[in-house]
Amino acid sequence: MPSLLIRNIQSLVLAETSPRPFVAGRDMQALPLLEDAYLLIEGGRFHAFGPMAECPERAGETIDAGGGFVFPSWCDSHTHLVFAASREMEFVDRIKGLSYEEIARRGGGILNSARRLRETPEEELLAAALKRIREIEALGTGAVEIKSGYGLTVESEWKMLRVIQRLKEKTTLPIKATFLGAHALPPEYSQHREGYIRLIIDEMLPRIAGEGLADYIDAFCEKGFFTVAETEQLMEAGVRYGMKAKVHVNQFNSLGAIPACVRQGAISVDHLEVVSDEDIESLKGSHTMSTLLPSAPFFLNDAYQPARRLIDAGLPVALATDYNPGSTPSGKMQFVVSLACIKCGMLPEEAIYAATLNGARAMELEQEYGSIAVGKVANFFITPPIPSVAYLPYAFGSDLVERAFLKGEMVVDKR
Ligand code: NIG
Ligand code: FE
Repeated sequence: MPSLLIRNIQSLVLAETSPRPFVAGRDMQALPLLEDAYLLIEGGRFHAFGPMAECPERAGETIDAGGGFVFPSWCDSHTHLVFAASREMEFVDRIKGLSYEEIARRGGGILNSARRLRETPEEELLAAALKRIREIEALGTGAVEIKSGYGLTVESEWKMLRVIQRLKEKTTLPIKATFLGAHALPPEYSQHREGYIRLIIDEMLPRIAGEGLADYIDAFCEKGFFTVAETEQLMEAGVRYGMKAKVHVNQFNSLGAIPACVRQGAISVDHLEVVSDEDIESLKGSHTMSTLLPSAPFFLNDAYQPARRLIDAGLPVALATDYNPGSTPSGKMQFVVSLACIKCGMLPEEAIYAATLNGARAMELEQEYGSIAVGKVANFFITPPIPSVAYLPYAFGSDLVERAFLKGEMVVDKR
């Protein structure tokens, strides 16, 4: 792979000389910015960076950033971007007054997506998901997690995870796969919850683990979906197959799932619109990342995540899109960063850490992605000239990802 030199960077964002695995609490305010910088890439990895005054002279490809900022690519650690069809009619139903939970109780929501997915051939799912991958690459995403959870049968969950596996082969974007068999109780088990949990544990998990199709296990722990006890049972089963937990918790209610996930050593707890003081206490000193998905309450008109309480308690937080057809039909991390600032009270510096390094940590990719450090994979984007780092969340309607790179190769140029 050839070398690439980027010159005249107005500000190189989150370049680290001593890479950290994540950043928590107060430290999230101190975002390193190197003004008037160069960045050198060799073999698809960051090789050197420094002030323009020390820029090496070299042959090979050179790009002039023209006064733009360089950011490490977004690390989107929570998506459901394999799905069969959009659900804009439910969006209209919500405008007319139905809630997300009411729509779900009537057999819409996740079950609607499951019906559509079951009847959609694998090739079609793959083509649609690949389009979404190209879309998020162009929006500056450089690492992503994708969940199953619209199959809800042995065959269809397997089909979804196969699609995710095949996506990995078609892109340089690193992808982590999460098995979310416990996304909703399928109607055929409505009178037989325990039977569905057994199906997940005894049939789905061994097959999926046997083929190495999932890195993590997830469950939607919420009233009307899965209980804390069921979630614990699933996490324990996942761990037996080497799958750590990344769990949907506290979207509408605080049920005690967060302390349970921490006890199980979950990689992350995700959503967190509703958080109690006990939840925060349980997260302190743990290895569990709090992952906030503010475009879900934006789209569902719910309360936003209390990011300030988490960060002020000294915790790290990550930000992700939740890209899915029901609660967040958007994979735009820049908008998530804006919402985190406008609606969750995060400072631009905190939101940028949360959307990059801490997101990488929430996928166990922090050694290779999430910041600009020598030896890490060269996934980054260049903005047009902007006045400051705060301009990125401020200009919420502008696409500031002008040129995006994966492994040092430009994948989109919007100039
Ligand atoms: O993270 N809350 C559970 N799952 C998804 C939404 C899934 C859907 O509505 O299709 C979420 O918001
Ligand atoms: Fe989700």
